[in-house]
Amino acid sequence: MAEPLISLKGVTKRYGEGTAAFQALKGVDLDIMAGDFVAVMGPSGSGKSTTMNILGCLDVPTTGSFLFKGVHVEGLDRDQRSLLRRRYLGFVFQGFNLLARTTALENVELPLIYRGEARKKRHDMAMAALDKVGLVDWSHHTPSELSGGQQQRVAIARAIVAHPDVLLADEPTGNLDSQRSIEIMELLTGLNQTSGITVLMVTHEADMAKFARTIIHFKDGLVERTETGHRPGLELA
Ligand SMILES: Nc1ncnc2c1ncn2[C@@H]1O[C@H](COP(=O)(O)OP(=O)(O)OP(=O)(O)O)[C@@H](O)[C@H]1O
Ligand SMILES: [Mg+2]
Repeated sequence: MAEPLISLKGVTKRYGEGTAAFQALKGVDLDIMAGDFVAVMGPSGSGKSTTMNILGCLDVPTTGSFLFKGVHVEGLDRDQRSLLRRRYLGFVFQGFNLLARTTALENVELPLIYRGEARKKRHDMAMAALDKVGLVDWSHHTPSELSGGQQQRVAIARAIVAHPDVLLADEPTGNLDSQRSIEIMELLTGLNQTSGITVLMVTHEADMAKFARTIIHFKDGLVERTETGHRPGLELA
């Protein structure tokens, strides 16, 4: 059997010190295979975002191991982790997090500026990403001129512009109505199937989790259970 792309073993996370300390994760074990579409569910405070931040190399476990492509991420320093993040990971958040007064195109180009890509290549890659999310005609509009659903599409284009292996999305439809949410889920499903990108998405809504192949349920800082082969007809490549 193939090795998982991502593997957490006994991951704990403690915030704060002494009597103010809070144990947010209590020994999380999970494996994610390349090409999967995973929904992470669970009550508020159960550790979903804490886990996503660790998987996204934005934070480190207090104890336990995080293997990405067989590399022990918990043993990397900050610079190595940020290289890994830029090379392999893309992020989408609930609040879109776009720069105001900056066009969709410029927002999508941003990660490529950090990577030091030349102007022409940046432009072409950003337009290709906007094309994937259906927003080529909106490339010169600023966020305030776009609907919530369109803004989230720009954020997704920005997350995938550098061709990451993994797309991490923390409640990507949390600020959208149900029709716009379904459109975002269809977009993520399409990216998963056509680009083979591994998608990990936190959601509170069962209707959105239905789009995933695997559902991981968190409870009280632990994985409570995992449902696999959840969506018939969606096969791993
Ligand atoms: N930086 C922090 N400092 C202290 N405690 C924190 C910090 N971040 C999270 N926590 C606590 O850790 C626990 C898990 O938080 P987390 O954000 O992972 O929950 P969640 O499952 O994403 O919840 P929600 O569904 O509300 O987004 C919560 O009790 C939270 O208050
Ligand atoms: Mg959260």
